[in-house]
Amino acid sequence: MLQKYSKDQQLKDSFVRPLNELTGLPNIAYCSAEFAQFERDHVLSKSWFCIANEAQLARAGWAHPVDILGLPLVVVKDKTNVVRVFHNVCSHRGMRLVDEARGVGSIIACRYHGWCYSTAGDLKSTPHIAGEGEHLDERFCKVSNGLKSVRSHIFAGMIFVNLSGDAEDFSTFISPVLEHWSEIDFKRYSHGGADSVWEITLNTNWKLAQENHVDGYHLPFVHPDLHRYSPLRNHYPLLLEGSASGQGSTSQNHADDIGVDQLPMNPDLSEPWHQGKAEFLSVFPNIMMAVHADHLWTVQLIPVAENITVERMDLCYFKEGATDEKYAELRRNNRDRMLAIFEEDRAMVEGMQKGRQSPAFNGGSLSPTMDQPAHCFIRIVAKAVLNAIGKE
Ligand code: FES
Ligand SMILES: [Fe+2]
Repeated sequence: MLQKYSKDQQLKDSFVRPLNELTGLPNIAYCSAEFAQFERDHVLSKSWFCIANEAQLARAGWAHPVDILGLPLVVVKDKTNVVRVFHNVCSHRGMRLVDEARGVGSIIACRYHGWCYSTAGDLKSTPHIAGEGEHLDERFCKVSNGLKSVRSHIFAGMIFVNLSGDAEDFSTFISPVLEHWSEIDFKRYSHGGADSVWEITLNTNWKLAQENHVDGYHLPFVHPDLHRYSPLRNHYPLLLEGSASGQGSTSQNHADDIGVDQLPMNPDLSEPWHQGKAEFLSVFPNIMMAVHADHLWTVQLIPVAENITVERMDLCYFKEGATDEKYAELRRNNRDRMLAIFEEDRAMVEGMQKGRQSPAFNGGSLSPTMDQPAHCFIRIVAKAVLNAIGKE
């Protein structure tokens, strides 16, 4: 597969092109199932990739399966709340081990022949392996047949994996974001609970969701309500070359929108944040993040197919804003407001996916001014793909 793409001069040119002039990625990057597999195995796997949020692990002794374009993984929280990620496949005959999110206690049992693994991934028992009632076979090595673990790291509630095992340290990966938001202490925000979550499935490629998220240009057309208090003229681009792109607004005064009561604000933040400043980043590859004075949110984008993406948002609030019952209605209103905005985007990201079936389009033309963040994200993708095919 790698060789095939490295020989494909047209594809290579298409990815080189965005580095030098303003255009988007070629249609194949969004519409080809084969390309999506290549991207999963040689681009996403080599990076840090978000697969879940801690809030999806309901309690200790919980297992949460996630498939990335068909590649099965499982996040496991053990009885002492340690979180680990494994390939979700039984070492015996390759059964997908955990089919749905569920409590597993301290043992994950395969339902095919009953092999049992600890939540640390060790193979603990192999019932009837040597005939009925014979649970041990001296020719069989249990130690080398545990679950295959995946390198993982948790940041701001998001559970990241590095499938290849050799990506840079997570701290290096996330440092451009932390440097940009040096005023923000993420530990001071906590998840708002069951009411501070939504999940939607979009018929689009994950990259179009990212490119749309950094695009402020569509604001007056797609989000007229939002545009009333956060007009285009108050937006500015964020370009974290090689890591993330996005936009900021100086007047994202959502408190006016969701209710008159203010949620508790982070007093450490500088004055503009208290006046309604908010910033939104799409971090390569698959997370969106936003920061406000009183809350922040994250979105994970799980690619299901080249044209299907599951988006999940988790909202976190400053200190007691996350837990106090008196803010519950504000939290729900804020969740509903964000879901409505993302639903307004649905037709756009799905329409761009449809448009990319057209032979009359292959990358498009970008505005040198208004499409800077989209092009920045495209450059990050292009560079990672070129890297994967050994041309960077
Ligand atoms: S496939 Fe899991 S026990 Fe046989
Ligand atoms: Fe939008």
